[in-house]
Amino acid sequence: MTELADRPAGESQMSHAARLRADRLDYMRRLAAALRDGDGGDQADAAMRLPISAYTDPERHAVERRVLFRETPVLVCLSCDLAEPGAFRLFDETGVPILVTRAADGRVRAFLNVCMHRGAALTHAREGKATRFTCWFHGWTYANDGKLIGAPQAEGFADGGLDGRDHLVEFACEERYGLVFVLATPGKQIDLDTHLGAFGDVLANLGLERAERVKTGELPVKANWKYALDTYGEGYHFQTLHKETLAPYFRNDITIYDRFGRHHRVGFAERAAVKLVDTPEAEWDIPTDPAGIHYLFPNTIIFCGSVSPGKSYLTTFRHFPGETPGETITYKTIYAFNGVRSPEHRAEVEAAFDATAHVVATEDYIVAAEGWRNLGALPAGASVVFGRQEIALQNVHRAIADAIGSPLP
Ligand code: FES
Ligand SMILES: [Fe+2]
Repeated sequence: MTELADRPAGESQMSHAARLRADRLDYMRRLAAALRDGDGGDQADAAMRLPISAYTDPERHAVERRVLFRETPVLVCLSCDLAEPGAFRLFDETGVPILVTRAADGRVRAFLNVCMHRGAALTHAREGKATRFTCWFHGWTYANDGKLIGAPQAEGFADGGLDGRDHLVEFACEERYGLVFVLATPGKQIDLDTHLGAFGDVLANLGLERAERVKTGELPVKANWKYALDTYGEGYHFQTLHKETLAPYFRNDITIYDRFGRHHRVGFAERAAVKLVDTPEAEWDIPTDPAGIHYLFPNTIIFCGSVSPGKSYLTTFRHFPGETPGETITYKTIYAFNGVRSPEHRAEVEAAFDATAHVVATEDYIVAAEGWRNLGALPAGASVVFGRQEIALQNVHRAIADAIGSPLP
């Protein structure tokens, strides 16, 4: 595991391409060392137990939904999903109906999608383009910066009925590194610098501002959201669960791991990487696209890679819990890193979306639902255990437990 402080001096002055190249080279060196040494790469100090109540307890679930999903900045989408002034999208995955817009001044803003007259929705479209929203109940109209700009028969409210109702309820919303964040509690401020910490530099390196969306979908699973999230953090299961799909191309015994506070990046070894060991570094073919599974606390995976060897695509997996501990929906979107170059390129990225969704839906989420069901059959006080090679999961569960105020021993 390396900290940012170990990286080459002057990194901030480097171009994006140079920083990305330095990062990939560093990763390949660590991978080559792990392959040479046969030590599995980055490992936790010890195995870690986690009480199954961390997944199953309904009270804890309610606290997580409040603290992690409504009092923590959560990723809504990439900037390209709200590219033009007038673009809007709904963000109701936390249970709060929020309308996110880009107004004429270019800023993204977030409002309750609730009319200040008597509470009807301002839009039912998941996304679109509009400079104003007219409520379908009595026709109050709001600009996309949240201001009330018209109410039929407004004189009926002239005695002060409109006081405090001239603006939609607003939420803190910030855009950084090509990512749009919302904090789903009105009146609470976002402090992204503190939230992201050193992970901000990693996100900056991904060049997300240049992405273009290609395909989006939903993957529901009857499992706790953390159990679903766990399947993205370890390669230990590749050889068994993904025997036919991933194991032919990826090893299950090497982890390259970097922690950045509550966030992390993890990578697993392609089988073809073994050639690095016997090839002089000067002859290494250093990929120009980012790589790695980036965990953005609390619920998002930004996956730079693919289920095929030698290819990297940009996919976000945003995991949201349902009302009960055993329901999760993963919202999955794939983007072309630097925009779609051709119809063939679009088809290739769409095929990558389908291939990943197939592995997740038919392998990871089948076992997640089964494991979830079975946790309920274990005796009270039982625990699961994460091995040293499951270092990423150990840190995810520590970070979540810390954030909700019940730190693990
Ligand atoms: S509830 Fe929206 S105009 Fe009446
Ligand atoms: Fe998996």
